[in-house]
Amino acid sequence: MTGRLANKIVLITGAAAARGLGAAQARLFAAEGAHVIVSDIDDAQGEARVREICAAGGSAEYLPLDVTDEAAWEAAMVGILARHGRLDVLSNNAGVFAIEDVESTSLAAWQRIFAVNQTGVFLGMKHALPLLRLSAGGSIINFSSIGGLVGFGPAAAYQASKGAVRLLSKNAAMHCARDRIRVNSIHPGVIVTQMADSITPEVIQGFADSTPFGLGQPEDVAYAALYLASDESRYMTGAELVIDGGYTAR
Ligand SMILES: NC(=O)c1ccc[n+]([C@@H]2O[C@H](COP(=O)([O-])OP(=O)(O)OC[C@H]3O[C@@H](n4cnc5c(N)ncnc54)[C@H](O)[C@@H]3O)[C@@H](O)[C@H]2O)c1
Repeated sequence: MTGRLANKIVLITGAAAARGLGAAQARLFAAEGAHVIVSDIDDAQGEARVREICAAGGSAEYLPLDVTDEAAWEAAMVGILARHGRLDVLSNNAGVFAIEDVESTSLAAWQRIFAVNQTGVFLGMKHALPLLRLSAGGSIINFSSIGGLVGFGPAAAYQASKGAVRLLSKNAAMHCARDRIRVNSIHPGVIVTQMADSITPEVIQGFADSTPFGLGQPEDVAYAALYLASDESRYMTGAELVIDGGYTAR
């Protein structure tokens, strides 16, 4: 295989949704020569993504993985080590969203969003690091959001969880530097995916009107992730890559 990610073993969480940021990364990374491990809780969609990538000439496999489940992470790493001998890139992409302000958020909803968006990222890094150390230049890509940078309205638990991802990424970057493993966060603006479908048209229009370039497409973010996954970003760690069409520029 040739390409910017030739021969790299890449694990992407939450990569099943056809119009999602994870699937866009999976397609692009495979086209750039990676072997992509598509993981998700939606097995049917995950298998479909793998068939799609393989039909296009790429290399991929499906791994069922609920990012909130520590035992599932442990089992996933045992399997990847046995099949591939290492991991080169971990994209902690899985995430969930809810439009609820600080007063209307139930404790159960708060804990669910934190379990996926924050604890899932923590567990992924914790359990993937031994395999990333076996790579010649490991890279961790953690999905935060513009919601992890600036307040944007009624998404209290989501924003808090994404702010935590931002700082955890910097903490892990310091920890991993001795092994030359990079840890960076990506901060997309509002991108047209299944997640955006859960937001009312009025709220979406408000975001579009506040964004100089309007709403983004999944590929806009996937190319930023490609840079972080590739060896070209070898001197970049602890950084925040904002891909938001100018939303936070004002
Ligand atoms: N779309 C946006 O506008 C936007 C903006 C900023 C940040 N983000 C972040 O980018 C990432 C991807 O977002 P998206 O828009 O593609 O979302 P999406 O809802 O389209 O897809 C999310 C995927 O995660 C999977 N998933 C959910 N819970 C999971 C779990 N517990 N374990 C494993 N997989 C799980 C879903 O099945 C789905 O395939 C998320 O972390 C999100 O917060 C998205």
